[in-house]
Amino acid sequence: MTPPVAAGTIPGDLSQLEAQAADSLSPEALAYIRAGAGDADTTRANAGAFRHWRIKRHRGRKPAEVDLSTTILGTRMPAPVLFAPVGVQTLAHPDGDLASARAAAELGLTYLHSTQGAYPMEEVAAANGDGSRWYQLYWPTDDELAVSFLRRARAAGYTHLVITLDTTLLGWRPIDLDLGYSPFLENKGIANYTSDPVFRRKHMPVPAELAALPAGIAFSGVFQNPGLGWQQLPLVREHWDGPVLLKGIQSPRDAELAVEHAIDGIVVSNHGGRQVDGAIASLDALGPIVQAVGGTMPVLFDSGIRTGRDAFKALALGADAVLVGRPYLYGLALDGQRGTRTVMRRLVDELEEEVRKAGLRSHRALSRSALTRVR
Ligand code: FNR
Repeated sequence: MTPPVAAGTIPGDLSQLEAQAADSLSPEALAYIRAGAGDADTTRANAGAFRHWRIKRHRGRKPAEVDLSTTILGTRMPAPVLFAPVGVQTLAHPDGDLASARAAAELGLTYLHSTQGAYPMEEVAAANGDGSRWYQLYWPTDDELAVSFLRRARAAGYTHLVITLDTTLLGWRPIDLDLGYSPFLENKGIANYTSDPVFRRKHMPVPAELAALPAGIAFSGVFQNPGLGWQQLPLVREHWDGPVLLKGIQSPRDAELAVEHAIDGIVVSNHGGRQVDGAIASLDALGPIVQAVGGTMPVLFDSGIRTGRDAFKALALGADAVLVGRPYLYGLALDGQRGTRTVMRRLVDELEEEVRKAGLRSHRALSRSALTRVR
């Protein structure tokens, strides 16, 4: 049995975070953050897939001095762990993404700011200071707006662009429907895009403070973009001269297409199971994609990582780095900036401990032989 943890603190066992954070969140916020699409079969499968891989220990290897540092597409990182892009973070804490971006800077980890961020990207960049930050883009139906996001992101010091491909239609999340809740209908926690001059001029002529619905309605019209395709790439290249990654890759064929289109990197992700229910676990998609890419570009991974041991397994299966989503949000709910920092720090420490116990100097020496597949 898990020993009791004082209310509001980060549990030593990170897999207990969600339960621990539940009391610090409104029922709507908890449901929104925890939700998967459908009956959350894929969200459960994401976490469950890690239990089918077990860590092998080779005896007689001395624990080594570990160095987890790595460089991904020119970004130096003290550990191969990034903050996944997460929108509407004020659901978890009033400081929202400002707190997360500060925590990332304190740890030296890369922060990914979401198009649906609660604070404008310029404020998040200021909070992140000298830290490392990438920008996540939901490519809108309005190219002028997309170009405005890119221009702002460049000016605010975001170095890499991560385009999320799996949310061209919003996932069907029954719990939100049951609660009649969507943060996008509240005109709160979405200042990253409602602060954009092009968005304000073209899509929200009435200020959010005065209108009950426009920003939320505009959200569907602007960010539901099922026509998104490779044809947008030239525009991206025209307006973004840094590295471009695609997030949401789940099939080896799409990974090959990314290579063919000279994309710089991919994130194997199913959005934490929030988009398509009944899909395979993201971890099960990873190995074949790594094989298809054949080392031609970095492969990042997310969906289901809860502990450093999970990160160890994804790295052993070929990921160059991992992104973490819900856990840092739960840390934010429990203890603001300090909570988020503690969660991410602990996860990195756990990863380092596993690499040390494997007798390796770096996670880069990991391979599938570090794991055994069990049913
Ligand atoms: C997300 N995610 C996400 N992804 C993205 O590209 N842009 C976004 O705005 C958001 N927003 C968002 C909100 C909330 C509440 C959650 C939980 C997730 C997905 C996120 O980046 C990441 O892919 C998943 O969270 C990874 O799965 P885990 O770590 O939560 O299991």
